[in-house]
Amino acid sequence: MKKLKILNIVGARPQIIKASAISRAIAGEFSGEIEEVVVHTGQHYDRELSDVFFDELEIKQPDHNLQVGSGRHGRQTGMIMERIEDVILDEKPDCVIIYGDTNSTLAAALAAAKQHFPVVHIEAGMRSFNKTMPEELNRIMADHASTLLIAPTNAAFKNLMSEGFRPENVAPYSINNPRVFLTGDIMYDNSLFYADLAERKKQDFLTGLGVADREFVLVTIHRDSNTDDPERLSAIFSTIKELSEVNSMPMIMPLHPRTMIALRNRVPELYAAISDHPFLRVIPPVSFLEMILLEKRARLIITDSGGVQKESHFFSRPCIVLRKETEWVELVKNGTVKLADANPARIKEAWDYFVANGSTLQYPAFYGDGKAAIIILKEVLAVFRS
Ligand code: UD1
Ligand code: UDP
Repeated sequence: MKKLKILNIVGARPQIIKASAISRAIAGEFSGEIEEVVVHTGQHYDRELSDVFFDELEIKQPDHNLQVGSGRHGRQTGMIMERIEDVILDEKPDCVIIYGDTNSTLAAALAAAKQHFPVVHIEAGMRSFNKTMPEELNRIMADHASTLLIAPTNAAFKNLMSEGFRPENVAPYSINNPRVFLTGDIMYDNSLFYADLAERKKQDFLTGLGVADREFVLVTIHRDSNTDDPERLSAIFSTIKELSEVNSMPMIMPLHPRTMIALRNRVPELYAAISDHPFLRVIPPVSFLEMILLEKRARLIITDSGGVQKESHFFSRPCIVLRKETEWVELVKNGTVKLADANPARIKEAWDYFVANGSTLQYPAFYGDGKAAIIILKEVLAVFRS
């Protein structure tokens, strides 16, 4: 039987990591049934935001790199659409797989759907209900351009129902008669798969940092609402600095280049203070295996990342999220993620709560059994193999 041809679209760091679960399953169990073509939009291009993951996670190297680079939303999204349309028309895939909520997700969804190629959206139905986030616009539009919508959580599935998607639709599926499907989360697959490898390969990295288990806090910050507003940026980093000093607690901070640029340009005095500080360790972005070790060993995690807050759960660590809201609502309900916005009092309150109650927290399995990629690809074959 002819193989099903899929375009696997990545662009930003978390998408490359997510795609590795699908890539790995195709190379293994589905090698006789699916042909994979990897398209990298080039939205992220620094080695530590892109190549490091292809090398470390042994993902298939991109067959096409559109090299769009950085730019304002319209320009970046437009450039991806223009270039990816050529690839789609040339490759003529049976379907196009997109992940999450970046500009690469939106551009690929629109370009494919307008040329009548079916779209599979992995992480469909995630909603923050805050349309001032670029990601919220991207995910809503990507969902409504898709033929197969893969919801990773019950909450995501319900969000799709309330937007009019119907679970009772039957084959043949199309953009006008889409299939909504609840699975686990492919990032849980990845965290399980790579956790042992991280332990085996990355001990030197931890030793090099000179921090002991549970005696440091991991911090990541990159969300535009935090980096682009000097007041929020300043409130967040001043509070982290204060907490590290009051508690003599090392903070390991692998910072996205966006955050480094913002600190240098928008709050130069604070940048100088945190760059040369006994407890604050600002380092470049780390690889996924390194990140897993940091997440596993941290006392607690402070982040505005979607992926990192979920990984805090996979590795049973409490997490303070520097946003007003989250798409991963089950974590907040569970009490292991606390939303603190960029509010110093709320950040400190969450810190105190976790320090006092950390050992009593529970981390139930919300995200499947680590086999989401296989379930998704079986569904892709069922829907698109004619
Ligand atoms: C993007 C996604 C965001 C996701 C994040 C993952 C959008 C709208 N946002 O945000 O949802 O959480 O990726 O990390 O798609 N830069 C570099 N080197 C790079 C890439 C970017 O220095 O390789 C710098 C540039 O100054 C650039 C800035 O980071 O202007 C922002 O990059 P961009 O891709 O536009 O958005 P992210 O903030 O990375
Ligand atoms: N990550 C990483 N190195 C880092 C920071 C993050 O490997 O220095 C991983 C992290 O473990 C998670 C993903 O990148 O799997 C999250 O990406 P990011 O925070 O950039 O984006 P978001 O998930 O918020 O879209």
